[in-house]
Amino acid sequence: MNLGITIIRGRHSVRDFKDEPVDEKVILDALECARAAPTAMNAQPWVFVAIRDKALLKQVADITDHGSFIADSAVCFAVFGEKSAKYYLEDCSAATENIILALQSYGVGSCWVAGDKKPYVDSIRALLKVSEKYTLVSLVPAGMPKDIRIAPKKPLSEVAFFDTYEES
Ligand SMILES: Cc1cc2nc3c(=O)[nH]c(=O)nc-3n(C[C@H](O)[C@H](O)[C@H](O)COP(=O)(O)O)c2cc1C
Repeated sequence: MNLGITIIRGRHSVRDFKDEPVDEKVILDALECARAAPTAMNAQPWVFVAIRDKALLKQVADITDHGSFIADSAVCFAVFGEKSAKYYLEDCSAATENIILALQSYGVGSCWVAGDKKPYVDSIRALLKVSEKYTLVSLVPAGMPKDIRIAPKKPLSEVAFFDTYEES
């Protein structure tokens, strides 16, 4: 396996973090990788907020329904998409995965926490003082992993095909 494949296949959602900071260089690299993601018509319809303040992390955690572990993360990336851009959801999802993989390349664990479609998008946007023209797409709490659980994946033969789909 080459390095890229090793990083991608080595990624698993981490929800249990050590009480250690993440280097600012790592955070900036993750943000640079977010910025480098592909976007429809190169619109780049996004803003990113890296939350490090412990009180803010706790507030964000409390607002979410399945993100209590955000409170224990060293940093949480919030990805906001510009609602007027037709493909903001796809664009911001690409940026989110780039953040996650950039972190993984440094051994920093993270987990995608839902933003889009959740009732709390506006509360988190307002808390972070982001303009109403944006909406929350995702949250990515990150930190040094304490515990990693491996989620089962469907076998390749069940989900991928050459040329045409074959019913099993
Ligand atoms: C759009 C999206 C929303 C998610 N939302 C949450 C969430 O709110 N809370 C959570 O703990 N995990 C969330 N996850 C992480 C998934 O639960 C996780 O990716 C899945 O169980 C597979 O595990 P893996 O990431 O280790 O491969 C989300 C993932 C995606 C892609």
